[in-house]
Amino acid sequence: MVKVKILVADDLESIRNVFDIILKRNKQDVLFKTKNAQETLEVAKKEQPNIVFLDIKLPDKDGTEIIPELKNYADHIIVITGHASVQNAVNTLKMGIYDYLEKPFEAQKIELIIKNIRNEMELLKKIGQLEEESLELIGDNPKIEKIRLNIPKIAQSDATVLIQGENGTGKEIVARLIYKYSKTKGPFIVLNCAALPDNLIESELFGYKKGAFTGADHDKIGKLERADNGVLFLDEIGDMSVNTQAKLLRVLQFKTFSPLGGNEEKRVNVRFITATNKDLKKELHMENFRQDLFYRINEIPVFLPPLRERKKDILKLLHYFKRTFYNENLFSFSRDAEETLIQYDFPGNIRELKNFIKRLIAISNAKTIDNEILLEIIPEIKDKNTLEKKDEIPKIRPVNYSEFMDTMERDFLTEALDKNDWNISKTAIAIKMQRSNLYKKMKKYNLTKNDTN
Ligand SMILES: Nc1ncnc2c1ncn2[C@@H]1O[C@H](COP(=O)(O)OP(=O)(O)OP(=O)(O)O)[C@@H](O)[C@H]1O
Ligand SMILES: [Mg+2]
Repeated sequence: MVKVKILVADDLESIRNVFDIILKRNKQDVLFKTKNAQETLEVAKKEQPNIVFLDIKLPDKDGTEIIPELKNYADHIIVITGHASVQNAVNTLKMGIYDYLEKPFEAQKIELIIKNIRNEMELLKKIGQLEEESLELIGDNPKIEKIRLNIPKIAQSDATVLIQGENGTGKEIVARLIYKYSKTKGPFIVLNCAALPDNLIESELFGYKKGAFTGADHDKIGKLERADNGVLFLDEIGDMSVNTQAKLLRVLQFKTFSPLGGNEEKRVNVRFITATNKDLKKELHMENFRQDLFYRINEIPVFLPPLRERKKDILKLLHYFKRTFYNENLFSFSRDAEETLIQYDFPGNIRELKNFIKRLIAISNAKTIDNEILLEIIPEIKDKNTLEKKDEIPKIRPVNYSEFMDTMERDFLTEALDKNDWNISKTAIAIKMQRSNLYKKMKKYNLTKNDTN
């Protein structure tokens, strides 16, 4: 059983003591008790509890006032309330709390809440483990297939690789797969350049000697050195400052570096794989990225397409994640739920899809996820889809054959014109139609460029 960290915040001793009784039964769990709002925030910040049982009336403050901050430290908040303030509690539900308890309550009610949260934690832990074990690039899209086929070849060379793609498109998976298929004996080390300020990137990358700067009270080995004979994966390299880029360039040119505050030159044999969600060509033009470094890191370019450009893979990935996280038969999707997912744009790409599945597994017990359940558990799909529907021009179904032919012709011509940037001559040649004839048809159907935008 996983350990659950519980914090009970209530000024009434009798309430706090109820939790002692429960905790006696689950010895692995940990209990913290606080009596006011300030103390609650302090303990929560330090201990990062899984559950907080929060009295809505604390002596120094209204409990609801601290919910927004508390949410940063605790996974779940359960509000404890007196009968009179039930409406208030219902309002707090809208602030994203897990549940509320009305005083007086039975110990069993608390036990049930803890049990449910424990089950959810266990499930997520299991999912986390399964996730680590699965390293596969799923998808039938030709671009993905080509990348998958090329990975073993790329792995055999020691050329630098630059992986470009939007958030969540699988850049890190590709990097790890290249490492997996390579013959390198050293480790795979990751440095995320977006998460750190300049000086920290450099100390992480090169390491430092004791006394190099205030606070450097011991020698530290940098990631470059740790990646010796292996792979250094520089994630979000597009976010690296031009200054640090110059230092990195030297390493790529001379295969040597010095730790900060040291003057010995160290030699390393590291393969560089880099990734970014920025368009580096654009960054070059804006002089945010050094051209010389770009050519050094871009010996083999890999572009990962966004999920919305390979909608056919949505179902494939959906079933793959279901299988990896759980027994395939646990639940299935109804046709309309699948259709809703296919319609969705997935701005967060595959990571977003994966998180949807995790959420569904954690929250729903249904055997079949239909549209209603899907939209309830993942409301962002609905928000997005209704937004899109508003803009959609309603399609009128043709009532006779001639109207049907007209609709077909109109759609065909619009698409052809679109493809040829609305250049009439070019379009006419492409679809083998007389220019004058095309022009007539455009008039007939009232086709202008703005129509389709
Ligand atoms: N083709 C795929 N097949 C299976 N899983 C995938 C695929 N692409 C991405 N994933 C999964 O989606 C998640 C996001 O992938 P990854 O971390 O590689 O993306 P990323 O491009 O590095 O994203 P970010 O830019 O946000 O760092 C990961 O959990 C990964 O396992
Ligand atoms: Mg990444």
